[in-house]
Amino acid sequence: MAGPNQALPADPDAGFSLYVHWPYCDRICPYCDFNVRRTQSVDVVAWRAAFRAEMVHLRAAQSASAQRLTSIYFGGGTPSLMAPELIAGVIEDATTTWGIADNAEITVEANPTSSETARFADYRAVGVNRLSLGIQSMDDTALRFLGRNHSADQARHALGEAAAIFDRTTFDLIYGRPGQTLAAWKEELRGALTIAAGHASLYQLTIEDGTAFAAARRRGTLVTPEEMVLADLYDATQDIMADAGLPAYEISNHAGPSEQGQHNLTYWNYGAYAGIGPGAHGRLVIDGRRVATETIRDPDGWRCAALAKGHGVADQIVLDDEACSDELLVTGLRLAAGVPGPRFAAVTGYDLAQLSMAPRVTTLREENLISIDDGRLTATATGRRLLNGVIAEIAVDLSWLADQTTLAPG
Ligand SMILES: C[S@@+](CC[C@H](N)C(=O)[O-])C[C@H]1O[C@@H](n2cnc3c(N)ncnc32)[C@H](O)[C@@H]1O
Ligand code: SF4
Repeated sequence: MAGPNQALPADPDAGFSLYVHWPYCDRICPYCDFNVRRTQSVDVVAWRAAFRAEMVHLRAAQSASAQRLTSIYFGGGTPSLMAPELIAGVIEDATTTWGIADNAEITVEANPTSSETARFADYRAVGVNRLSLGIQSMDDTALRFLGRNHSADQARHALGEAAAIFDRTTFDLIYGRPGQTLAAWKEELRGALTIAAGHASLYQLTIEDGTAFAAARRRGTLVTPEEMVLADLYDATQDIMADAGLPAYEISNHAGPSEQGQHNLTYWNYGAYAGIGPGAHGRLVIDGRRVATETIRDPDGWRCAALAKGHGVADQIVLDDEACSDELLVTGLRLAAGVPGPRFAAVTGYDLAQLSMAPRVTTLREENLISIDDGRLTATATGRRLLNGVIAEIAVDLSWLADQTTLAPG
């Protein structure tokens, strides 16, 4: 077994991905704390050159034997506001920089307004093969509350158009909204399932600091459901989706095995990925160490830096063993499949048999929050709902194991 303090090789089975951040949106939704700005006119040639420069910079930092890309994800913001020629240019430059697997998944996040739907065929023509649509709700009153600029009918129409054009589609819904009852959510979700094509992301509404919703909650004008109600909504979501053949493979993501999102699986399986564009995060293996990158958040500042000095990377941090162990748990335990024993051992330095003897892990297993079976560490459905607490307990046990190792005689 490898011990801690070893260099951490990339896991080729986890894939190698490229995340491209597009920061602009037609309007800013009151719940959203992503790195977003109101739409402005952009210089497509300059943006392509900036993306290309940053790709070349990150590729040069990796070893000569870096993997080919297994996925590209255009996220935002609203990437469906990107000109098709810019998407085409980024795909072409990424292919030149890293090479790309024949069956690579190339996803664009889209909003369901008609101007964006009109670009779908052009995206398909330049190589995009998966579309992720932000429906958010099937109910017009809820969509107004969420500050969206589309109706439920427009969303249904957009998903229909997408399904006719792309090999694979998925959509996002937000539940746990103020006043939402269990019965209302069940009906809404069953309605959404009638238009689902194999994958859905179902997010519980989070009130993020600095958003309009956070201010409304402080004023007392926005009241989120009680914990007990949220737990019931989560449990019903798991049951309805599993019955429909789209079980949770991750806390918020539901699909059959062939439809799971390969790009996000690279994150959750603790693979390597490059992140380009304003405020993008990456995890690369450089000189055998896992390195976290983060770029300048301001879009103009990022673009100018990338054009002037070849990249807009603001932070590049070599992750130590403890940080790697934490990240492995935070990402891997989101998955229903959990963390395979060999990967756990390679990153933490302990095998699952050792972990299973630790005191807090023993309690977590007795409480049915985690399991160690078939050579994998997994969180149960309930454990995934309480994941932060579960991970904190396992982290304490990893320190306990380190102390045992230090104290062991000779
Ligand atoms: C990058 S965002 C949005 C993509 C696209 N611009 C849209 O709005 O449809 C990805 C997804 O995160 C989810 N999301 C964003 N903020 C959230 C929050 N505060 N609580 C729950 N889900 C959230 C939404 O479902 C959204 O579709
Ligand atoms: S939810 Fe989507 S459209 Fe709304 S502000 Fe966030 S990224 Fe933009």
